[in-house]
Amino acid sequence: MKVLLIGSGGREHALAWKLAQSELVTELVCAPGNVGIAEVADIVPVAADDIIGLLALVQRDNYDFVVVGPEQPLALGLVDALQELGIKVFGPTEAAAQLESSKAFTKELCRRYNIPTAAYSVFTDLKEAKAYLKTMTPPYVLKADGLAAGKGVVLPETLKEAEKELEEFFSGKFGDASTKVVIEEFMEGQEASFFAISDGKTAIPLIAAQDHKRAYDGDKGPNTGGMGAYSPAPIFDQKAMEIVMDKIITPTVYGMAKDGHPFVGVLFAGLMMTKDGPKLIEYNARFGDPECQVLMRRLQSDLMEIFIAAEGKKLNKLKAPAWFDEPTVNVVLAANGYPGAYKKGSVIKGIDEANEMDGVVVFHAGTKLDDKGAICAAGGRVLNITAQASSLEKAVSKAYKAIDESIVWPEGFCRRDIAHLALK
Ligand code: AMP
Ligand code: GLY
Repeated sequence: MKVLLIGSGGREHALAWKLAQSELVTELVCAPGNVGIAEVADIVPVAADDIIGLLALVQRDNYDFVVVGPEQPLALGLVDALQELGIKVFGPTEAAAQLESSKAFTKELCRRYNIPTAAYSVFTDLKEAKAYLKTMTPPYVLKADGLAAGKGVVLPETLKEAEKELEEFFSGKFGDASTKVVIEEFMEGQEASFFAISDGKTAIPLIAAQDHKRAYDGDKGPNTGGMGAYSPAPIFDQKAMEIVMDKIITPTVYGMAKDGHPFVGVLFAGLMMTKDGPKLIEYNARFGDPECQVLMRRLQSDLMEIFIAAEGKKLNKLKAPAWFDEPTVNVVLAANGYPGAYKKGSVIKGIDEANEMDGVVVFHAGTKLDDKGAICAAGGRVLNITAQASSLEKAVSKAYKAIDESIVWPEGFCRRDIAHLALK
């Protein structure tokens, strides 16, 4: 099969790395890709949110199957447009992708299908939102309804700060994404990311991972796209998976189909493991980044086979995916300053040396070649150092050994405590 993968992050490098190992994939192309992806696929310079450009590309070059990595093209209706052209694609339609693109949509689905989540209310009026705030206790949880690149959730500690945030939301802090605001109950617990694949009728479980959203050690500093991940997550055992499949994933798949927008793609459930059991924080309609990188390293089965079964609505006939038991970690290297302002163009050395280390695979995110052909930084999150070993301790120390002894990039930083919750 001639396959087109859309995206350019660490998630897409991991997907490309895994797809390239599939016997079902005879030709792999990625738009727009990055330096690492170019080692396992051909890359074409069409941006992931350039829907018209992508449609032109797909028609011109006759792809058999398209895999969509990031959320923007999903929310922009790329899957719908490809389906209209009769092209097979793995990913949800625009209506189904509302599970990620509208928090109010997901909360409403949870209410109607009895899916455990935080109590909430939705507001389009500042005065009413402020009045509701007064009935809540801190910390307050305020969420912009729409996509805000992971920055649309704030957890103010005081009523005054919360009121100020609300004012900013309604005066267009996130444009249209924050004209509707969800206010919800604060949930206590550890977080986990759980992934399942749905074909619109059935869902099969993948595995869980834990992300590190804050920029600095000790879960301090601003929220980021994710600074590292590991799997398995000890907090998410077999029992937890059964509960989540039964009470969260299955009712979601059922509800989405019943409501007329069956979900085909990756259901990424952000979960709070509360004392009353797992509750849904939010859904994403695609793999997580940096979680996907550890998932792909642990996946033993053929990824393309899973995508084909999901697209063809035959997941019920698919053998359960097999996984490597070895704990796997991913440490993200980001440009100094991320998630705030950062410089591009600094040269990175030692990636090949890191890749030669036992159990280590480096996935690129924001990388480019400069005029002299050297690998340089071209984004906020730049590299993912993944390591696999017989124990999580060993995997973590391998990843940091690769960073400290092989990678040379003074303009970058990483968290030094990835997996601290599991190692404690
Ligand atoms: P989200 O973008 O919805 O995943 O929210 C971003 C982060 O905010 C989550 O990863 C949690 O750490 C936190 N968060 C969101 N909703 C809640 C909640 N109801 N209670 C506690 N923490 C939350
Ligand atoms: N790691 C969180 C996300 O991909 O949204």
